[in-house]
Amino acid sequence: MASGSGDEKGKVDGVSWRLVGPASELSKKRCRLMYSSLGYDSDVCLFFVKGEFFAMDARCSHSGGPLCEGDIEEADGVLQVFCPWHDYDFDLRTGASGTSLQQQVYEVKLEDGNVYVKHTSRLSLEPFSADQKS
Ligand code: FES
Repeated sequence: MASGSGDEKGKVDGVSWRLVGPASELSKKRCRLMYSSLGYDSDVCLFFVKGEFFAMDARCSHSGGPLCEGDIEEADGVLQVFCPWHDYDFDLRTGASGTSLQQQVYEVKLEDGNVYVKHTSRLSLEPFSADQKS
């Protein structure tokens, strides 16, 4: 990625990245719920699984189940989160499921020890704050 993207509202090549917080802290929990200023339906999960971060909409595309509370399993090299409500599973990387359901995912990058999530018009994350530690 080109330089100059360190600012949470910075734009590089027309793409905005949202600074979420330090990877050293964010990697201490398997999932963090990040609230959107657009409302409950736009909250986002940041998962940390097998040394990698993944971001996806926090509410299941089936009926709104809380994916941050779902079990994560690996099958044939694919990491999946299982919705705790009806057990549909979603690929953490693509958001695809074994059904017609598709979960919105967001690109994540690490830069200078910080985690950034690609910002879209419908995603507005609250920055990571110290009281989210642990
Ligand atoms: Fe997630 Fe039904 S709400 S599977």
